Amino acid sequence: MIENKTRPKKIILTGFMGTGKTVVGKLLAAKLRWLHFDTDALIENSEGLSVSDIFEKKGEPHFRKLEKRCFEGLISLNEVVITTGGGTLLDEECFKMANDEGIILCLWASEEELRKRISKDKTRPLLKSGFEDLLKLLKEREPQYKKMGIQIDTTDLTPEQVCQKIIVIAGLNG
Ligand code: S3P
Repeated sequence: MIENKTRPKKIILTGFMGTGKTVVGKLLAAKLRWLHFDTDALIENSEGLSVSDIFEKKGEPHFRKLEKRCFEGLISLNEVVITTGGGTLLDEECFKMANDEGIILCLWASEEELRKRISKDKTRPLLKSGFEDLLKLLKEREPQYKKMGIQIDTTDLTPEQVCQKIIVIAGLNG
């Protein structure tokens, strides 16, 4: 439970690909009757291209710029659940904005669970070189993720249970 903080007005979900950010974010927003925004979905809509195509046609640095701009636009809103891409808060300025303005929840899942959830997914550009390389990336990012807000392991939890946990932790129950 968050103490000495006023009732939060923004929840920001981060964590590696496949940890359930989007599914949980949607459900959480519905439960709180808040709005839900997903940075990847907004970027895809505004560019008219999938994240994969943006990586391929315009390059990852361009995607990162769009991602940052998108996040900067969302963070001023209230009563929102913001689902970020797994790389969004690795940008120091985005992390600082999220940390100053809202509550960050960093979702996790075991390697085995990640394998089940995403290893066959063709839509993720960073999976192109294979699941083992993705795990290397997770290891590289792990120290940064560990410093990001409240850590929640979703491996054995349903999205409903993850939401309940977040609601209690964030002091949004009642
Ligand atoms: C990325 C995660 C993806 C997407 C892009 C890059 C990352 O989002 O933003 O493929 O760098 O971790 P999800 O975490 O929602 O899959």
